[in-house]
Amino acid sequence: MKLHHVIEAQQFDPATLAELFQVTEEMEGVVADGGVLDYQKRVMATLFYEPSTRTRFSFETAMHRLGGRVISTENAAEFSSVAKGETLEDTIRIMNAYSDVIVLRHQEVGAAKRAAAVSRIPVINAGDGVGQHPTQALLDLYTIRKEIGAIEGLRIAMVGDLAQGRTVRSLAYLLSKYRDVKIHFVAPPLLKMKQDILDHLREHHVWFTEETELEKVLPEVDVVYQTRIQKERFGDRSADYERCRGVYVINQASLRLMKPNAIVMHPLPRLDEITMEVDEDPRAAYFRQAQNGLYVRMALLTMALG
Ligand code: CP
Repeated sequence: MKLHHVIEAQQFDPATLAELFQVTEEMEGVVADGGVLDYQKRVMATLFYEPSTRTRFSFETAMHRLGGRVISTENAAEFSSVAKGETLEDTIRIMNAYSDVIVLRHQEVGAAKRAAAVSRIPVINAGDGVGQHPTQALLDLYTIRKEIGAIEGLRIAMVGDLAQGRTVRSLAYLLSKYRDVKIHFVAPPLLKMKQDILDHLREHHVWFTEETELEKVLPEVDVVYQTRIQKERFGDRSADYERCRGVYVINQASLRLMKPNAIVMHPLPRLDEITMEVDEDPRAAYFRQAQNGLYVRMALLTMALG
C-alpha cells in the first residue's frame, strides 16, 4: 500500500495502520541486523521551523538506514530564504525540484496541509503548531500495541497540557478507530482537551472522562501518557503557565498506585513531570517509545517513497 501525504491522524484507516505496523516490525529487523535498504537514489528534505530532537533525528536516521540521502535545515525560519520573506508555498515548490519527500515541522496549525496543496511529492507533517503530530501518534500506537499487546480494550490516561498538546490530539484521533478504548483526560481547567476532539470521540462512541485528579485514575489505566506543560505555547500568559506548571508529576508514589503491568509514556522532552527515579522502573516506556519512532518512520518513508 502506498502512502502519499501524511497530514493528520484521521486519514489512517485500520487496514493502513495494520500494514504500517507490519512494515515497522520488518524495519526493526533491518536495524537489528545492521542492514541498509536500497533507497540510495532517493532524497528526503527535512524542513524544521520549530526545534526538535527526536522527530528530526529519527527521520534523518530512518532515511540513512534505508540507504537514502538527506538534505536538511534545522532552523528553517533563520537558515532558509524564509528569513528573506519567502512563503512556505514557494519553499515547498522549490524543494519539489530537489527531493522525493518532505518532512515539515512548522509553528502554524494547517501548515502541512498548505504545503501538501502545492506539493507533487509526499509531505509528512512532523508537527504543525498546536494542531497535530501524526507520526508521533503512530509511534505511540505502535508502542502501546507492542508493550500492552493490543489496542482494543485499552484504558489510557492522557495527562497535562491537553489544550496545546498536538501529540494527544493526534493520538485521540487514532484511538477512536479501535473498539472498547477508554480515555481519561487529566488536565487543569486551563488546559482541558479541546472541544473538537471531544466531539469527534462522541461521534465515534468512544468512552472518555475529564478529570483534574491524577491519583484517582492511576490504578485504573494500562497507559499513563504524561505530557509537558509547554511554556512556549503560553506566549505572554506567563501567569497561566505558573499556575499550571508542576501540577502533575509521575514519581515513585505514582508507580505504587499503578497496575504492575501498566506503562508510563511521554512524547518527550520531559522537564520535571516525570522524576528521574521513574526511569529505573520497567514500566517507564518513554525511551523505548522514542526508539520505536525510528522504526515507524522508516516504515512511513518506505510507504511514501514506494
Ligand atoms: N516528541 C517530539 O516531537 O520530540 P521533538 O520535539 O524532540 O521532535
